[in-house]
Amino acid sequence: MEFSIKSGNPEKQRTGCLIVGITEPRRLTPAASALDEVSKKYLSKIIRKGDISGKPGQSLLLHNIPGTMADRVLLIGCGKERELDEKQYRNIIGHTINQLGQTGTTEAVSYLPELNVKGRDYYWKIRQAVEITSNLLYEFREFKSKPAKDRKTLRRITQMVSSRRDLAIGIQAVSDGRAITHGIRLARDLANRPANVCTPTHLAAEAQQLAKSLPAIKVTVLDEDALKKLKMNALLSVAQGTAEPARLITLEYKGGKRNGRPIVLVGKGITFDSGGISIKPAANMDEMKFDMCGAAAVFGAIATVAEMQLPLNVIGIIAATENMPGSKATRPGDIYTSMSGQTIEVLNTDAEGRLILCDALTYSERFNPDVVIDIATLTGACVIALGKHATGLLSNHNPLAKDLLNAGENCGDRAWQLPLWDDYQKQLDSPFADMANVGGRDAGTITAACFLSRFTKKLNWAHLDIAGTAWITGDKKGATGRPVTLLVQYLMDRCR
Ligand code: BES
Ligand code: MN
Ligand code: ZN
Repeated sequence: MEFSIKSGNPEKQRTGCLIVGITEPRRLTPAASALDEVSKKYLSKIIRKGDISGKPGQSLLLHNIPGTMADRVLLIGCGKERELDEKQYRNIIGHTINQLGQTGTTEAVSYLPELNVKGRDYYWKIRQAVEITSNLLYEFREFKSKPAKDRKTLRRITQMVSSRRDLAIGIQAVSDGRAITHGIRLARDLANRPANVCTPTHLAAEAQQLAKSLPAIKVTVLDEDALKKLKMNALLSVAQGTAEPARLITLEYKGGKRNGRPIVLVGKGITFDSGGISIKPAANMDEMKFDMCGAAAVFGAIATVAEMQLPLNVIGIIAATENMPGSKATRPGDIYTSMSGQTIEVLNTDAEGRLILCDALTYSERFNPDVVIDIATLTGACVIALGKHATGLLSNHNPLAKDLLNAGENCGDRAWQLPLWDDYQKQLDSPFADMANVGGRDAGTITAACFLSRFTKKLNWAHLDIAGTAWITGDKKGATGRPVTLLVQYLMDRCR
């Protein structure tokens, strides 16, 4: 998909389809109004007949409007102008893309950036349009033997700004939006692959591949022998139940000062989570191939910052293994000494994410990081608490938490903070080891973060629980690419 920016009058655009808004009640936007003028009130007449009033979700496709050079004009209902907020704008863009798909046009020229969205400028409106469009048109067909029947034909969308002065900001928005969609697509592709293909070894190979296509990225892959030497026994305790060898993958992007402290992103890369000996129920277990979405988001974010050439040092650490039952698997009650030296009683082998993350977090210390953010499909409890809308955020460093919350609000990939109070810590008490790996039914997302917090005392750290946001279920089942946008927005904000 190609995106471009232009300024100019709507009647002069030679295109397959012009996209213009109409707000309630029957109000023409500036572009629609210009078309109305050149066509001797062609639009006003149709609107007066009641074919469209401007309600959200309405649209009307018109052909060969007199005085214009476009094959078609797609009128899009935008609702009441006063009520045009971010959510409404996003819906409008989404609706437009779906309608365009029905027309058969290969390219279009959109005047929707002229809509007034409360508190938002061209940059925001155009970047949103790029991201939403790309996300909607994404298809995962790697394992389909035949091409799709109704192939989506849309190839190019030009976003219009009102004057040449605004071209530069529009071009910046397209270029940022494009880099983000590349990261999102990478994350979605990796996560959508089945677990028999997307193994820890596969993730390592993909990391090498990424470093080849983006030379600013350096990759190191540690195998199980190396993990043993590092005493990453918590990670290895998860890996010992599967025939797939575990990997610790490090992606280093150095765009900042030579000695600038890096931002470290730690991704949970469980390529399949059966639960281990504490095995999960059969229903929907296939979705546990998505248990590496944290790792996928790290891939996506690093690829994007490298494409954007942000002046930052960013390091991705991915702990990758499968969680399987078997004769070598961890038993409930087994005790392991983590890399940090703290001992863990594994009461539930299905709480494996925290076991691989705790060692990866300890490992992150060696990079002398400014901040560390881990990203993990960590708890079903987070889906119960926040549903599929917000990513769970817990942090031991309030400025970092605030920055992440703000970044989310800004880009639309939002997080919501939960408390990380000491009061919850005692749920992790174990009679046999320094701690248990589960904290009972109450506050499952918080106790999981409490567990991790015991390994991040020396760090400015935030934890993103993406169990609810990383993929959607149902007939459109698939990875969302969240929270790549949130991470990239946070990193971009740090460059201002
Ligand atoms: N990967 C799961 C969390 C998960 C479950 C994410 C469902 C999305 C949907 C994680 O490894 C897990 O199994 N967590 C357990 C923890 C429990 C044993 C304390 C859970 O949430 O049930
Ligand atoms: Mn699990
Ligand atoms: Zn898991």
